[in-house]
Amino acid sequence: MSTIKPLWFVLSTLIFLLSATSDSSPLENFLHCLSKHSSPSITKAIYTPQNPSFLSILHMHTYNHRFSAPTAPKPLAIVTALDESHVQGTVVCAKSNGIQIRIRSGGHDCEGLSYVSDVPFVVLDMFHFGSVDVDIESGTAWAESGATLGDVYYHISEKSGVHGFPAGVCPTVGAGGHFSGGGYGNLMRKYGLSVDNIIDAKLVDVNGNILDRKSMGEDLFWAIRGGGGGSFGVILSWKIKLVYVTPKVTVFKVMRNLEDGAKGLVYKWQLIATKLHDDLFIRVMHDVVDGTQKAKNKTIKVTFIGLFLGKSDQMLSLVNESFPELGLKQSDCIEMPWINSTLYWFNYPIGTPIKALLDVPKEPLSYSFKTMSDYVKRPIRKSALKSMWKLMIKSESVRMEWNPYGGKMHEISPSETPFPHRAGNLFLIEYLTTWGQDGVDAANRYLNISRSFYEFMTPYVSHSPREAFLNYRDLDIGSNFPSNATNMNIAQSYGSKYFKGNFKRLVRVKSKVDPENFFRHEQSIPPLSH
Ligand SMILES: Cc1cc2nc3c(=O)[nH]c(=O)nc-3n(C[C@H](O)[C@H](O)[C@H](O)COP(=O)(O)OP(=O)(O)OC[C@H]3O[C@@H](n4cnc5c(N)ncnc54)[C@H](O)[C@@H]3O)c2cc1C
Ligand SMILES: *[C@@H]1O[C@H](CO)[C@@H](O)[C@H](O)[C@H]1NC(C)=O
Ligand SMILES: *[C@@H]1O[C@H](CO)[C@@H](O)[C@H](O)[C@H]1NC(C)=O
Ligand SMILES: *[C@@H]1O[C@H](CO)[C@@H](O)[C@H](O)[C@H]1NC(C)=O
Ligand SMILES: *[C@@H]1O[C@H](CO)[C@@H](O)[C@H](O)[C@H]1NC(C)=O
Ligand SMILES: *[C@@H]1O[C@H](CO)[C@@H](O)[C@H](O)[C@H]1NC(C)=O
Repeated sequence: MSTIKPLWFVLSTLIFLLSATSDSSPLENFLHCLSKHSSPSITKAIYTPQNPSFLSILHMHTYNHRFSAPTAPKPLAIVTALDESHVQGTVVCAKSNGIQIRIRSGGHDCEGLSYVSDVPFVVLDMFHFGSVDVDIESGTAWAESGATLGDVYYHISEKSGVHGFPAGVCPTVGAGGHFSGGGYGNLMRKYGLSVDNIIDAKLVDVNGNILDRKSMGEDLFWAIRGGGGGSFGVILSWKIKLVYVTPKVTVFKVMRNLEDGAKGLVYKWQLIATKLHDDLFIRVMHDVVDGTQKAKNKTIKVTFIGLFLGKSDQMLSLVNESFPELGLKQSDCIEMPWINSTLYWFNYPIGTPIKALLDVPKEPLSYSFKTMSDYVKRPIRKSALKSMWKLMIKSESVRMEWNPYGGKMHEISPSETPFPHRAGNLFLIEYLTTWGQDGVDAANRYLNISRSFYEFMTPYVSHSPREAFLNYRDLDIGSNFPSNATNMNIAQSYGSKYFKGNFKRLVRVKSKVDPENFFRHEQSIPPLSH
């Protein structure tokens, strides 16, 4: 990037000339304002479409090809904030010029809301805010919003072999979006969600002020821990409370095809997964795969992937007690430090250097996906499992992950944080439909498949409302178009699914901290007057 001749000088001259006239564009006014409200290094932080690096900067953190195709709407500019004043300036100047901002940390928003909008917008890109400052003595760390989960895990492990943090499995996910949407992973039965372990935060509010927990007050601090980013302010950093992990943990993967008794196992898993010891977490993944020799057709492969905070013999006796059908053997179990298990869970081969946690893709990802979610409160009966898998095989492109609740998840009150899905839930389903073809027709075909599958699942999942997990953002459950015109009835529909009774309190907080509704997107929290 340093070899590219800074376009800023050309632009600033242009802006200087234009600012003298009364009809400069909102972008020009924005850039002019930004230069006045930010530290001088702002010149190195701005990318407009004329800059040769514009697209590569835009796509450096886009994780869904559906929203990074050439036809997808592009921002007027990207501000890759280098210091706090750039964030403050972007907020103040976008607001005063009527430009929407989209805040991006890791770029994994499942509907691309952090880098696409249907109205003129600027991307505030937080990837330079990537530091993780670990203090083992107090058992805490400050993680900036652009730090990835891999960064967080890696830096903890540099300082300690017995500390960890409960967050997601995918190391490239950003702390900014992930934590503000709840954040779950395989430590959730033991320690709850990421938001259950956040003790402070720094945020830029709608007036450009920097607030911490004390100055923002408990209402706003409550709202940003699960109420979603992009509604209340820009998170600069989070203070997290580290959790204890045993020096060695045990992991395993057991796979079973449909023909080999997967149905009985999955049925039994539903009965016991939430009741297992808190130290044990067993996720079930459902994939469509090629059949075996005897049945050449596609079939379903079910994978049970486990994490136990402790040694394998102890785990084996726990599994043997409540889930003997799994047939778990000592040879299936691998003991390793917790940090290695984060790589194992993300499918890295054993022996992968821990540094791989810091990797980010060099190219924009070339596949598209649609994510949806459901909560299950009663075991799905065997005949329904059978029809469900039949439909998956027909679709070929849908996969599922089932994540058990129980343990700590059931002990925390549903109003403790905006994330309401606590006691009473057996497991969370993530549906993931992926495709590699470009274009609107392919997208529509796969979106239709995804929606049909979701429709099929209706009788087996939560209802009134049909609950959904915010981090698996799904615009189908209700969304505002255009995104600058928030309608309370529509907001109520997605709000009740993501937040249940907590939606009302989120609206109250929003009305107080951003009554003009500057921080908004298709699924943001509206203030009362809107
Ligand atoms: C491959 C993949 C794996 C995933 N695995 C998990 C998982 O294991 N567990 C889980 O809980 N979720 C998981 N998710 C969902 C993920 O947690 C959410 O998509 C999350 O919002 C991503 O955060 P981000 O910073 O990477 O995304 P971004 O796209 O940067 O941000 C998401 C949204 O958060 C808001 N936002 C971002 N940064 C800020 C900020 N600094 N201040 C204020 N608002 C901000 C914006 O509104 C933005 O639209 C996964 C998603 C993907 C694509
Ligand atoms: C929303 O944006 C569109 C397109 O830029 C614009 O025409 C419309 O006036 C805006 N509406 C509101 C309520 O700001
Ligand atoms: C394989 O698929 C075909 C076409 O869908 C079907 O007719 C046949 O019965 C299937 N065979 C088996 C063994 O399931
Ligand atoms: C599992 O439990 C059964 C009966 O309770 C016992 O006979 C068997 O030895 C146990 N196996 C393991 C691996 O602990
Ligand atoms: C954990 O990972 C490190 C780095 O790759 C490796 O040296 C070590 O052998 C691994 N430990 C285990 C038990 O897998
Ligand atoms: C999917 O497409 C079919 C055929 O075009 C249509 O009948 C069906 O309603 C669509 N389903 C969904 C959920 O959109």
